[in-house]
Amino acid sequence: MMTKKVLITGVTGQDGSYMADFLLEETDFQIFGMVRRTSTNNNKNITHLLNNPRFKLVTGDLTDSQSIDNIVREIQPDYFINLAAQSFVGASWQIPEQTFDIDAVGVIRCLEAIRKHAPNCRFYNAGSSEELGNVDYSPQDEKHPLKPRSPYGAAKAAARHIVKVYRESYNLFAIQGLLYNHESPRRGEEFVTRKITKQLAQIKKSIEENIDFKPLQLGNIYAKRDWSHAKDFVKGIWLMLNQKKPMEYILASGKTYTVKDFINKSLEFFDINGIWIKEGLEEKFIYQNKILIEINPEFYRPAEVDLLLGNANNAKKILNWTPQISFSDLVKEMSKNDLMNM
Ligand code: NAP
Ligand code: GDD
Repeated sequence: MMTKKVLITGVTGQDGSYMADFLLEETDFQIFGMVRRTSTNNNKNITHLLNNPRFKLVTGDLTDSQSIDNIVREIQPDYFINLAAQSFVGASWQIPEQTFDIDAVGVIRCLEAIRKHAPNCRFYNAGSSEELGNVDYSPQDEKHPLKPRSPYGAAKAAARHIVKVYRESYNLFAIQGLLYNHESPRRGEEFVTRKITKQLAQIKKSIEENIDFKPLQLGNIYAKRDWSHAKDFVKGIWLMLNQKKPMEYILASGKTYTVKDFINKSLEFFDINGIWIKEGLEEKFIYQNKILIEINPEFYRPAEVDLLLGNANNAKKILNWTPQISFSDLVKEMSKNDLMNM
C-alpha cells in the first residue's frame, strides 16, 4: 500500500509544528510542510524535524494560487491541513485586506486546487471562536450564529461559508473546526499569553539581578478567554479529519478566565507577591514599590470580543476527544519555558 501523504500549511507556526510532531509520532505518513519565502530563517519551531526523512518542506504561499495549485497537483495529498493564516486579531485592523486575502481567499485557492487535482483529499481549515465574536450566550455551541468583531473574525467566517459551499457543491471532505484559544511555549510573542510569560520571566530575572526593567504593558485585562494547550487541539483536528462524514466541531476547555487571571497564575509561578492597585487605565501591579504591570491604551482593540467560552460536548461524545492539559499546567509550562530560555 502507498504511504499516505499529508500537506500541512503554517508548519512554522504553533499549530502546524505540533501537528507535524503529532503525525510523525502517531502515523507512518509522509509529511509535507508548506513554508513561504522569508528573507531570514524562520524555522525555530521545526528545526528538530528538518533531518527527518518523513518530513519535507515545500515552498508556497496562500496568496499565490499557482503555488498552491502546483503543490497539490504534484504531491496529490491524502490530507490537506490548512493551518496557515494571518492569525493575529490585533493586526487585522491594520492589514485587513491582507488578512482577508490569506484567511478567506486563500482558502478558496486551497479548495480549487483540491477540486481540480485531488478530489478525494480530506481538507481541514482552521476556524476560530473569533467568528462568534459578540456572543449571544455561553457556553457557545456549534449552533451559535457567526457574529465576528474583527477583520480576522470576518475572514474566518467567510472561509467557513466557502468551505461548506465546496463541501456541498463538489462532495468534498472539507471541514472547518471551530477552535477556541490554544497556547504553548511555541506561541507567537505578540499573543497575550506569551507576551505575559516572556516579559514576566524577563522581569523576574531583572529583579534577581537587581537591574532596571520596563513594566509589562497590556490592554484590556478583563477580556475572558477559553484557553487550552495546542498539543491537545492538534489531536482533535486529526480526529475531525478521520470521521466517516465531514462534520465540524468546537474544540474548547469549557472554562473561561480573564487575562488578569492568566497574569496572576504566571506571577504565582514566578513567586512575585505584589498587589494590584487602582482601576481602569490607572490599574497597576506593584511589587517592592516598583510598577511591574501597567495599562497602555495602545493595546486596546477598536472592537473587543469580551467573553469566549466553548461547549465541546459534541467533540467529546462523537470524537471521544477531551483536552488533557489544564489551564494551570499550561501557564506553568509557558512561564517555566520562558524563564529557562532567558
Ligand atoms: P501562527 O503560529 O501565527 O502560525 C501561522 C502560520 O501561517 C505560520 O507558519 C505563518 O508562516 C503561516 N502563514 C502566514 N501567512 C501565510 C501565507 N500567506 N502563506 C503561507 N503561510 C502563511 O498561528 P497558530 O496559532 O499556529 O494558528 C494556526 C491556525 O489556527 C491559524 O489559521 C489561526 O488563525 C487558527 N486559530 C488559532 C487559534 C489559536 O488560539 N492558536 C485558535 C483558533 C484558530 P510564517 O512563519 O512565515 O509567518
Ligand atoms: N495580544 C494582546 N496584547 N492581547 C491583549 C493585550 C496585549 O497587550 N492586552 C489585553 N489583551 C487581550 C486582547 O484584547 C484579547 O481580548 C485577549 O487579550 C487575547 O488576545 P490574543 O492573545 O491576541 O488572542 P485573541 O483571542 O485575540 O486571538 C487568538 O485566539 C483566536 C481564537 O479565539 C488568536 O490565536 C486567533 O488566531 C484565534 O483565532
